[in-house]
Amino acid sequence: MLHLLKILYLGDLVGQPARECVLKNLHGIRKVHGIDVVIANAENVTAGAGLTREHAELLHSVGIDLITLGDHVWDRHGFERDIEDLEYVCRPANLPKECPGRNFITLIKNGTKIGICVVLGRQFMKIHASCPFEAMERILQDNRKNVNILLAEVHAEATSEKIGFG
Ligand SMILES: [Fe+2]
Repeated sequence: MLHLLKILYLGDLVGQPARECVLKNLHGIRKVHGIDVVIANAENVTAGAGLTREHAELLHSVGIDLITLGDHVWDRHGFERDIEDLEYVCRPANLPKECPGRNFITLIKNGTKIGICVVLGRQFMKIHASCPFEAMERILQDNRKNVNILLAEVHAEATSEKIGFG
C-alpha cells in the first residue's frame, strides 16, 4: 500500500553558509513539517564550487537522504573517485557513459520506492552534455516499472529548455 510522502527538495546549496544552515535547521524542519525525504542539490556546497566526500557525508549524516549534482559535478579534484562510494549521490545522466558515479538512484520510504535522476541542459552550460531528452527516455524505459515515484531534476540555464522538458 502506498502512503502520502512529504519530500523537501533543497537547492542549490552553496558554500559554508548553506552547510551551516542545514546543520542548524534541517532536523527541526524535518520534525515540524513531518518531512519524509530530503533531497538536495549540493554541487556547490564546497567553497561554492563542487562537492567533496567529506561534505557529502556531512550532509547525509544530518538528514539529507539524497544528493544531486549538476554541471559542477567534477569541480573538486578526486571526487571522480569518491563518488563511487557515495550511493546516495546522483550525477547527471547525460554525461558520457564512461563517467563514474550513479545516474539514477532509488530510496524506499514508507513502502514507496522513489527514483531520482538529473539531466543537464545544453544552453549556456560549461559542460557539454548529450541530449537530455534522450537520456530521460532511457531512464524512463529502464526504471519506470521499478519505482512508484520518479523525480527528474532538470539542471539547466535556459527557460526554454526547462519548458520544453516539462
Ligand atoms: Fe549547476
